[in-house]
Amino acid sequence: MTAPDVNALLRQRYGASAPVLADPAILSSEALALLLRHRSVRSFADAPVTDEHVTAITAAAQSAASSSNNQSWSVVEVRDADRRARLVSEAGGSALIADAPVVLLFVADWARASDIAGWHGEPAEAAAYLESTLVGFVDAGIAAQSAVVAAEALGLGTVYLGSLRTRPEVSADEIGLPEGAAVAFGVAIGWPDPADTAGIKPRLPQRAVRSRERYRPIAREDVDAYERELAAYNATQGRAGSWIAQVVARVRDVRGLHGRENARAALERRGLPSR
Ligand SMILES: Cc1cc2nc3c(=O)[nH]c(=O)nc-3n(C[C@H](O)[C@H](O)[C@H](O)COP(=O)(O)O)c2cc1C
Repeated sequence: MTAPDVNALLRQRYGASAPVLADPAILSSEALALLLRHRSVRSFADAPVTDEHVTAITAAAQSAASSSNNQSWSVVEVRDADRRARLVSEAGGSALIADAPVVLLFVADWARASDIAGWHGEPAEAAAYLESTLVGFVDAGIAAQSAVVAAEALGLGTVYLGSLRTRPEVSADEIGLPEGAAVAFGVAIGWPDPADTAGIKPRLPQRAVRSRERYRPIAREDVDAYERELAAYNATQGRAGSWIAQVVARVRDVRGLHGRENARAALERRGLPSR
């Protein structure tokens, strides 16, 4: 097997601001190259993702770190075409949910710990606090990222789906979630359509996200440089659009939340009041 070209991958990820690495142990890392090659896949071939694939992917997810090893997350595998269609039409999910052969719904889950406490005659008062909600969502996110990396290692493509938080009660009902559990997001999985041209999407220059010892606020020239890098990448995909405009639209006002401004009330209705 030929060694991965890590520096070439870094150039794709960062463009002009790419770091250049020289350590042979780093340059020969297949695992690093896999991570650097990540791209979201939104167009899937008509080929099956087997139960063994999902077993392996779930094992990778469960191998991730988890706060106090409480494992306060769950995953619900959805394959049924009608259910996937309803998740799009009723729960506000992305159309990608209907297109992918498998969708994994990652769940922030305090229902399991609450059940265990209940079996032992104890309440589950601490599950109602914001810290617990955060832990459930953080654990779900960490597990999901290991699932995504495992899927990519197997040659599969994935895309995260945050849209299922738009109507969280509907997604929860559709997969029978108990009180104390909420869908954090979905991950659609399938074999990448060979005709899909999506590539390695540039990221902010590393100095924009990485500080030493003390946090360094963003520099405007780094953002402007990134705007140019992303525009050049988007042009290769036949897309226009400005990253700066997107970020501003996201933070400017409540419209940037795309209907998910109801998150606190929705979580409370799911039995996660986040006190
Ligand atoms: C929590 C989360 C939710 C996301 N939701 C969606 C989504 O609903 N639809 C979509 O097309 N992409 C979604 N994405 C994918 C991002 O748009 C994508 O990761 C980002 O544009 C960077 O592109 P890349 O993954 O190809 O590098 C989501 C990603 C994350 C982490």
